[in-house]
Amino acid sequence: MTSEGTGPETAVSRSSATIRPARLSDARDIFLLIAQNPNELVPRPLASVVQNIDRFWVAEESGAGLVAAATYQVYPEIGAPHRATVELQSVCVRQDRRGLGIGRRIVDAVVGRVRAFDPGQIVVLTFTPPFFAKLGFHRVEKSALLYKLYMGCVNCTKHESPFTCPEVAMALGAPAQD
Ligand SMILES: CC(C)(COP(=O)(O)OP(=O)(O)OC[C@H]1O[C@@H](n2cnc3c(N)ncnc32)[C@H](O)[C@@H]1OP(=O)(O)O)[C@@H](O)C(=O)NCCC(=O)NCCS
Repeated sequence: MTSEGTGPETAVSRSSATIRPARLSDARDIFLLIAQNPNELVPRPLASVVQNIDRFWVAEESGAGLVAAATYQVYPEIGAPHRATVELQSVCVRQDRRGLGIGRRIVDAVVGRVRAFDPGQIVVLTFTPPFFAKLGFHRVEKSALLYKLYMGCVNCTKHESPFTCPEVAMALGAPAQD
């Protein structure tokens, strides 16, 4: 997934946001951005953002401050440990700055970092599959991510089971051929 082929009229150039690794001083803004999306994102305490700040990326716009965040987590329990699975997490763009290509750019940045250590797969659990489909993700069976489902969904009070929840599991790249 790249931003190739994106000319001046495309989404990528519609925001002047700078995408950069997060700093500790960004943690509170990241926490607030995530908290503004309670229906789409797993809530995250400020302490968790601080503890994992080295895995966060942010988008910053002159005059608008932090407008997006995204991070990832490595799951050695899914796949062979030497080619563990990586999940994209907490992908969010501030509501008034959506549709400007920022989401694509920040996911590209995180995926670029993750690809550098060669995981077995890059996955996401999302209520916004069309966005990730645009970025090269395809739908996979949730059963392929059972450990993650157990860890992430065990305290969910919205749905009886991860398999009745409308959240969709997706992986980056072309679907495997049978
Ligand atoms: C999903 C989200 C990150 C998208 O951010 P964004 O900055 O608006 O996305 P972009 O402008 O980079 O869009 C990239 C492409 O995806 C498409 N897209 C974005 N959101 C979409 C949506 N909800 N449905 C369908 N397509 C969508 C855009 O049209 C664009 O397509 P194009 O390249 O053909 O023009 C943002 O809406 C958000 O923060 N939502 C709430 C949190 C969330 O759902 N996070 C994802 C779950 S992990």
